[in-house]
Amino acid sequence: MNGDSRLILPTRRTILKGATGAAALGLVSPFPKPAIAQGAPLKVGFMLPYTGTFAKLGKFIDEAFRLHVEQKGGKLGGRQVAFVQVDDESKPEAATDNMNRLVGREKVDVVVGTVHSGVAMAMVKVARDTNTLLIIPNAGANEATGPACAPNIFRTSFSNWQPAFPMGKVMAEAGHKNIVTITWRYAAGQQMVDSFKENLAQTGSGAKIVEELYLPFPEVEFQSLITRIATLRPDAVFSFFAGGGAVKFVKDYAAAGLKERIPLYGTGFLTDGTIEAQGEAANGIKTTLHYADNLDNPANKAFLEAFKKKTNLDGDVYAVQGYDSAALLDIGLTAVGGDAGARDKMIAAMEGAKIDSPRGPISFSKSHNVVQNIYLREVRNGRNEYVSVAHANLADPARGCRLSA
Ligand code: BEZ
Repeated sequence: MNGDSRLILPTRRTILKGATGAAALGLVSPFPKPAIAQGAPLKVGFMLPYTGTFAKLGKFIDEAFRLHVEQKGGKLGGRQVAFVQVDDESKPEAATDNMNRLVGREKVDVVVGTVHSGVAMAMVKVARDTNTLLIIPNAGANEATGPACAPNIFRTSFSNWQPAFPMGKVMAEAGHKNIVTITWRYAAGQQMVDSFKENLAQTGSGAKIVEELYLPFPEVEFQSLITRIATLRPDAVFSFFAGGGAVKFVKDYAAAGLKERIPLYGTGFLTDGTIEAQGEAANGIKTTLHYADNLDNPANKAFLEAFKKKTNLDGDVYAVQGYDSAALLDIGLTAVGGDAGARDKMIAAMEGAKIDSPRGPISFSKSHNVVQNIYLREVRNGRNEYVSVAHANLADPARGCRLSA
């Protein structure tokens, strides 16, 4: 995996090598094929963070997407695939230029990205303006499948509303009355806190938010805010952090001696893909997410085994999202014999997709956001272990989306 912060592109020769390689190996069918199957490979543009606090998240999405393609013999919908990568560094200010390079200069057929909600919103705008097919494999910005929804935009991961919503009920049922929230001040953090509060209010439990704490993304100087939590002495804390920031927050929280006194909750990004680095500090943390390490279904077992074999690493929610993004694209391309230009038919197939995902069965709502189970998990034995289904088949409310597919 290339960790370069600049545009990471294969050379023209690399792409051509991939396209002609099959013919050179004599893999030429005696039967005539649709023109598209004999043509150029489908060009997939990855716009992901390969550096910075979300670097590991981007890497796992990329690796798992490629794993799916490899499992299909290097093809999607029967068509050879070539990749172009851009490191978006989780920087919204560079997002429009990065997206324009993929769409304009590289002329990709589809963009897969990204992780950070702010970057994703700039991508959504370019995708809408240029009618580029965009598959979002992580970023939860509610708007992407809300007011900014579009026929050419799909999300295989979650909306920020989804994993946070069930946590209101979970914490109310645990008897917590005075709750502090803490997160980065940007779209994902704000929207997850709002969704959590929405559900908490609906419980009628009388639980209230004592204070909302924020720090700028991607800062990790948590000390003054942790001191503030100690002073406020709430019953519990709800949080959103992810990647490198989540590792440090969980460790700092435990090191301050708060872990045993004030239980820490959050959306599952707090402990997914971070648990090894967090060690003991993560034990006992309860989170809600659309994945758990030990989900007992054949798709999950096969996926974790294959991902480990390919990367020598343990799969996580980000890897699952990357894998499912390839599965969704495969369904669309299969319906059109690999001809990504047959857009309406391809989109109709993607809208109707039902995927047997490692996270459990998933489908897509009218706004093109994934519909999925949200699980309550607890960190035990260094794993995010399944506790219960916190909310079955949860669809984002898609507020403001005008799609009627
Ligand atoms: C986001 O910015 O949408 C996001 C980033 C990491 C994990 C979850 C959400």
